[in-house]
Amino acid sequence: METGARVWISDSESEDAWLLCEIAKKTDSELVATHVDDSSRSITRNRTADTSIVKYQGVELANAPLSEEEKKEGRDDDLITLPHLHEPAILHAVNERFMLGKIYTWTGPVLIAVNPFQRLPLYTRELLQAYRQEGLLRSQGLLQKAPMGPHIYSIADRSYRQMMSTGRSGVKKSQAILISGESGAGKTESTKIVMLYLTTLGSDNEHAHAHENAGAAGTDTMERVLQSNPILEAFGNARTLRNDNSSRFGKFIELGFSRAGMLLGARVDTYLLEKVRLGFHASGERNYHIFYQLLRGATPEQQQKFHFYEGHTGGLELCNYFHYTGQGGAPHLREFTDEEGLAYTIKAMKRMAWSEDKVDTVLKLIAGLLHLGQMTFSTVDVNGEEAA
Ligand SMILES: Nc1ncnc2c1ncn2[C@@H]1O[C@H](COP(=O)(O)OP(=O)(O)OP(=O)(O)O)[C@@H](O)[C@H]1O
Ligand SMILES: [Mg+2]
Repeated sequence: METGARVWISDSESEDAWLLCEIAKKTDSELVATHVDDSSRSITRNRTADTSIVKYQGVELANAPLSEEEKKEGRDDDLITLPHLHEPAILHAVNERFMLGKIYTWTGPVLIAVNPFQRLPLYTRELLQAYRQEGLLRSQGLLQKAPMGPHIYSIADRSYRQMMSTGRSGVKKSQAILISGESGAGKTESTKIVMLYLTTLGSDNEHAHAHENAGAAGTDTMERVLQSNPILEAFGNARTLRNDNSSRFGKFIELGFSRAGMLLGARVDTYLLEKVRLGFHASGERNYHIFYQLLRGATPEQQQKFHFYEGHTGGLELCNYFHYTGQGGAPHLREFTDEEGLAYTIKAMKRMAWSEDKVDTVLKLIAGLLHLGQMTFSTVDVNGEEAA
């Protein structure tokens, strides 16, 4: 760390957690650096009391910036290639890429994804096919040119090819993809993208043509596997202050493939559903989507059948009238209406081969729960004891 060197200095007071600075002066006990974007601002760091390690707290050496040419070559695609790999270097590199619309970055075999909160043209059929082609060539050792940029398709592709290869052991092995992040980070969306990629590969893979009718059967299985998502989201996702479509349960999705790589089916294990949300949710939040979908999307016949009487709510919208749905003000979602949501959920139920009867029974149950939530209890005295 010499005078003139560029460093990242942690700054809890500024909006950016780390500031890019240049070392202006350095003594044994003190380091003074000026902010690169504002040289009038200088920051001082004292040497730690530690006698054996010479270190200035909250100071990290910055990497030399890459040229446009190097960026075009994809030199920043993998953080592992950074000479200095620490928190500010990672944040800076990921942020720079994000500004160019590159939301994915490798860190070795791990993919970092930044939620763009807007629909980017990253998931087109053409791109999916391009990553698939790249994956096929890589698996055959024929990949000549530099790999395509980091993408979640690549994660899915690698796990599929690894599952299909016997490797040195001569045995095909199951693969797992772990998707983690804080609420609103994009786990659910990423899971759906991975599932779409894997089911596409498993429905129309290179070996499928050996099986008579394999293509058609595969497409049907794929459709059913993918259609499980809207149903799970209707009953297990809710709007929170952080995410309009927050999953209030954990899930483990198992996709089964034949030895030839054909998709056979899926199994979803769900756990830890936030049950308390049925009875209570905070202001600005919502109960599970299905309640709002049914209240806002029911046809006049369904309204009658489920005893949703708009005329008896004292002027309140049904969602605000029912206790289970109205505690948070029953806000609308940003991306689609609840009417559209209901149509989407019912379509998914039908694609999953649910009978009319079954769909009706499930919706009846939802309506029943809403009415149950209207019950109030008052205390009475029974033999000197409080009872409800
Ligand atoms: N790849 C993406 N492209 C565009 N928008 C995205 C992407 N990933 C996430 N989003 C947006 O961010 C929102 C939140 O993402 P998502 O529901 O996947 O978060 P999550 O990590 O599952 O959160 P939670 O833990 O609360 O369930 C989505 O509804 C969508 O609007
Ligand atoms: Mg989620």
